[in-house]
Amino acid sequence: MISKEDEDVLKGLSAEEGLQFLASKFADGVVFSTSLGQEDQVITDLIFKNKLPIKVFTLDTGRLFYEHYDLLSKNNSRYKTKTEVYFPDASDVEKYVNEKGINAFYYSVENRKECCFIRKVKPLNRALENAKVWITGLRAEQSENRENMPVVEWDEERKLYKYNPLIHWTYQDVLDYIEENKVQDLPLHKKGYISVGCAPCTRAIEPGENPRAGRWWWEESHKECGLHTH
Ligand code: ADX
Ligand code: SF4
Repeated sequence: MISKEDEDVLKGLSAEEGLQFLASKFADGVVFSTSLGQEDQVITDLIFKNKLPIKVFTLDTGRLFYEHYDLLSKNNSRYKTKTEVYFPDASDVEKYVNEKGINAFYYSVENRKECCFIRKVKPLNRALENAKVWITGLRAEQSENRENMPVVEWDEERKLYKYNPLIHWTYQDVLDYIEENKVQDLPLHKKGYISVGCAPCTRAIEPGENPRAGRWWWEESHKECGLHTH
């Protein structure tokens, strides 16, 4: 477990040191979910270049951008490793699509959340089975909902610790790391896509808009898919 003392230690460590600390403390129980966005590419680089024993996985919803697959393939070549890919349950997707429609997420928030549940949340829960620590690329700046998230927290529903090594990084910190370390990222970012999710549910943003404004842009909702809220 992560004691109060460990929590205090983690708060004082850099992202790189924190990942090393947890990987050595939990041996094989640390996993990282990557969406292949810029924050996650930074964490991927830290994990792979330090050869940390952390399982890196991504959720292929079946509705990602072509660029996601290209970057995944480039990552595997660059780091000579494999990011594990989790897919949704085929019968869940078939039932949803055949009953509601291929793009039913546009019709209501309820439909949208159900699609996210089937394509993201259920596969995530499967990927997290037996994990003791779940690493994410969340940053406080990204949204109101994320503003007060701590570096490390207990996820009662999933019964594991969640570690957010970049929670206090600014977007500029992320860009600086990418440049200094020549990290590859999605070409979409240069086209105005900052926070990138599934293709039909993401649009580019205008200068000055909230970074998550392009996610589920037709909704007035809190713009979360259920991975990080319950
Ligand atoms: S989301 O909840 O709105 O979709 P966001 O795109 O901001 O999430 O990403 C936040 C974190 O959630 C990422 O750093 C990553 O850990 C996780 N995540 C989001 N989408 C995926 C995905 N497709 N595969 C794996 N992890 C993901
Ligand atoms: Fe479905 Fe859109 Fe959610 Fe992707 S982001 S799982 S396509 S509703």
